[in-house]
Amino acid sequence: MLVTAVAAVTSLLALTAQAWPHRPYGPQPWGYFTNNTIWQPPGKETVSYPRYTELADGTIIATSALGGVSPGYFPIFESKDGGAHWTYISNLTDQVNGWGMSAQPALEVLSKPIGGYPAGTILGSGNSWSQNGTRIDLYASTDIGRTWHFVSHIANGTAPNTTNGAHPIWEPKLLQYEDVVVAYYSDQRDPLHGQKLSHQVSYDLKSWGPVVNDVALPLYEARPGMTNIAFIAPIKKWILVHETPIGNSSSYGVNYPVHYVMADTPLEFGLNEDIPLVVNNQTAPNASPYVVWSPLGGEYGTIVVSDADRMQVFTNQCGGDRNEWEIHETPAGAVYSRAIQIFKKRPDHLAIYGGNTYDDSAADVHKPFSITVVNLLQVLKAPQGVIPA
Ligand SMILES: *[C@@H]1O[C@H](CO)[C@@H](O)[C@H](O)[C@H]1NC(C)=O
Ligand SMILES: *[C@@H]1O[C@H](CO)[C@@H](O)[C@H](O)[C@H]1NC(C)=O
Ligand SMILES: *[C@@H]1O[C@H](CO)[C@@H](O)[C@H](O)[C@H]1NC(C)=O
Ligand SMILES: *[C@@H]1O[C@H](CO)[C@@H](O)[C@H](O)[C@H]1NC(C)=O
Ligand SMILES: *[C@@H]1O[C@H](CO)[C@@H](O)[C@H](O)[C@H]1NC(C)=O
Ligand SMILES: *[C@@H]1O[C@H](CO)[C@@H](O)[C@H](O)[C@H]1NC(C)=O
Ligand SMILES: *[C@@H]1O[C@H](CO)[C@@H](O)[C@H](O)[C@H]1NC(C)=O
Repeated sequence: MLVTAVAAVTSLLALTAQAWPHRPYGPQPWGYFTNNTIWQPPGKETVSYPRYTELADGTIIATSALGGVSPGYFPIFESKDGGAHWTYISNLTDQVNGWGMSAQPALEVLSKPIGGYPAGTILGSGNSWSQNGTRIDLYASTDIGRTWHFVSHIANGTAPNTTNGAHPIWEPKLLQYEDVVVAYYSDQRDPLHGQKLSHQVSYDLKSWGPVVNDVALPLYEARPGMTNIAFIAPIKKWILVHETPIGNSSSYGVNYPVHYVMADTPLEFGLNEDIPLVVNNQTAPNASPYVVWSPLGGEYGTIVVSDADRMQVFTNQCGGDRNEWEIHETPAGAVYSRAIQIFKKRPDHLAIYGGNTYDDSAADVHKPFSITVVNLLQVLKAPQGVIPA
């Protein structure tokens, strides 16, 4: 018996060896992996504030802000296999201001035509700044990110300055919704608010409608910032997450507590309550949040939120119920404005983009632009303190 069993195993091994003559090392297409390098900047550049858009065929187009280069630009990368392999395809550069694409990139693929641009067009934005102003501009690529051209100025403000009373704008987020494209951003131009969250819509990508408030808190010193948005399909609600520093005050031990607002459409956040995101009345995410939703994890699927300071993610399997937030370990590092992604056709794949924390960049650390992909269901199952394999 034993001999037979050993022989059977041996022949199975032989078959396996034949089928895969080279044992696969490194990240596999559509696999799970940790800290897979997308790009190691060759020089003094620092990578933070990663962003991506997923095309209809699953291709990912990703970018990040670059510190340490002037004028700034956004390096554009493409992966066709779930983040295992990447190609550096272009740079999105400032073509109109002479100021560079300084920081805070945004990407959004069109799922249907608008303003003469076909479905599949990739929109790019960011904050172009100098001592003369801050400008959120729109660019488009009709060749899958190989080349870019300027489309319109969306909004502008005065020079970068985070002191209340100065009037810059920051941190665009683009979203195609029904027959408009929405540009969300952080806005210091309203004398009633140190900073608020605003949006404007366009029906043609060239002209932009009036400034509409998304989150404008009664306290002047409150500085809601860094809008990010996801759709929760089973309850047909949109969620906007943002950071909320108020002077030097601390809330649940953090200075940039993450809050969220839920609304029936992504144009009506301003009508709804702003809710602090807190786990067990105890733990709160801090700064520059990112939100995604997966249909897996129960009747309501799972909302997943990342912050700037933690390896963990915050999850909610109850449609955003304020009492149902959890915190779960991941193997990925903290990053300033850490983007996360649920692959549309593989909703158990949670991708977490890597780069520098805010402090890393200040300390001249040069972490690579990277991606970690984990199984969301494993993340949800892992007890606190245990990093899922
Ligand atoms: C992007 O710009 C950098 C800096 O100018 C340059 O070294 C690099 O070759 C460019 N890459 C692409 C793909 O255009
Ligand atoms: C800022 O504006 C001044 C006055 O118009 C001009 O001389 C200067 O070149 C501008 N600087 C930049 C970086 O655009
Ligand atoms: C913003 O753009 C408008 C229209 O071009 C211009 O009148 C205004 O001076 C600009 N504001 C700043 C702060 O650059
Ligand atoms: C930043 O804005 C504040 C408030 O308006 C102003 O007092 C300060 O001079 C500005 N800083 C710079 C460097 O312009
Ligand atoms: C925050 O604290 C710093 C350092 O103590 C202080 O200089 C600053 O004025 C404080 N800011 C506010 C808004 O209280
Ligand atoms: C949350 O914690 C605070 C401070 O410990 C306490 O006063 C409050 O009652 C708690 N709230 C809930 C809902 O448990
Ligand atoms: C991945 O990178 C992060 C950030 O540098 C680091 O904290 C973590 O230990 C790395 N994980 C592995 C498995 O290398």
